[in-house]
Amino acid sequence: MRVGLLTGGGDCPGLNAVIRAVVRKGIEVYGWDLVGFRNGWQGPLEGLTKSLGLAEVEDILVRGGTILGSSRTNPYKTEGGVERIKRVLADQGVDALVAIGGEDTLGVAKRLTDDGVGVVGVPKTIDNDLAATDYTFGFDTAVHIATEAIDRLRTTAESHRRALVVEVMGRHAGWIALHSGLAGGANVILVPERPFSVAKVVSWVKRRFEREYAPIIVVAEGAKPEGGAEMLQSGEKDSFGHVALGGIGAWLADEISRHTGAESRAVVLGHVQRGGTPTAYDRVLATRFGLHAVDAVHDGDFGVMVALRGTDIVRVKLAEATAELKTVPLERYQEAEVFFG
Ligand code: F6P
Repeated sequence: MRVGLLTGGGDCPGLNAVIRAVVRKGIEVYGWDLVGFRNGWQGPLEGLTKSLGLAEVEDILVRGGTILGSSRTNPYKTEGGVERIKRVLADQGVDALVAIGGEDTLGVAKRLTDDGVGVVGVPKTIDNDLAATDYTFGFDTAVHIATEAIDRLRTTAESHRRALVVEVMGRHAGWIALHSGLAGGANVILVPERPFSVAKVVSWVKRRFEREYAPIIVVAEGAKPEGGAEMLQSGEKDSFGHVALGGIGAWLADEISRHTGAESRAVVLGHVQRGGTPTAYDRVLATRFGLHAVDAVHDGDFGVMVALRGTDIVRVKLAEATAELKTVPLERYQEAEVFFG
């Protein structure tokens, strides 16, 4: 059997761990031949391949990024895209695909399965916003990076008695903000799911200053003030219709200064959250996802995604996994509110 592998969407620590696990188990347990497709769906669309043998995956477990490259290519936005993919797979003698990605990549995987291509999905995203899995790999690493940044920003904030606004990733879901904010002892956490009142944020910041503390405000890039809209870097959309967000941190820091008279600074963590080596947790989760994806392909169980439920890896329908985003529930946010102010 010949199996193709691709990584799509924003990169994420742990992608290489999945690739390694699929290649090792595919070759050593099932005797497969594997081929990598470069740059997400662009690979099978344009026939861009990379050979994937044991030697190619020897030292990649701890390496961030993806040896296959990634892109946000949407074959359903390309004239004749599906037919081109089918032709490339036939030319390459590929019987099935393992697609590692988030909502967009897996949304394409689902549609391709409906169109007759055998695909098994592996969930990745630092945002942890994929439904049907308790956690995605990459999230733990991003939370660690953001928490370390918050710890460091706290000492400089205290030295200067400034408010520090930390903008983290999270377009529609505030999981990174919530977890890093809780772990880092932030005194305000703002998420896309809950439009915030600037007056309330200002009052929490003032309270913290009164108690001789320097306030740390963690804000997800997709958070918005009540009655306001998300802040955009530009109006441009990618092929899945997403705009690039950014700017809420700087805007909020200005508002805080204006209303409190205290100095404030904004720090945007940006792609630092996605780079570098994965944590041990993410290496293990990514490896287990890879191993189970191989079994799904072996069983001919296409149109599924491997998912974490408790401590078990299970298979769920791609349709279920991509139906809606997993956002932060109100009760989870309310747990954190105890620490605001
Ligand atoms: O992968 C999702 C994500 O991390 C979002 O939180 C963020 O908005 C986006 O990627 C930014 O990605 P890029 O700059 O690569 O388009």
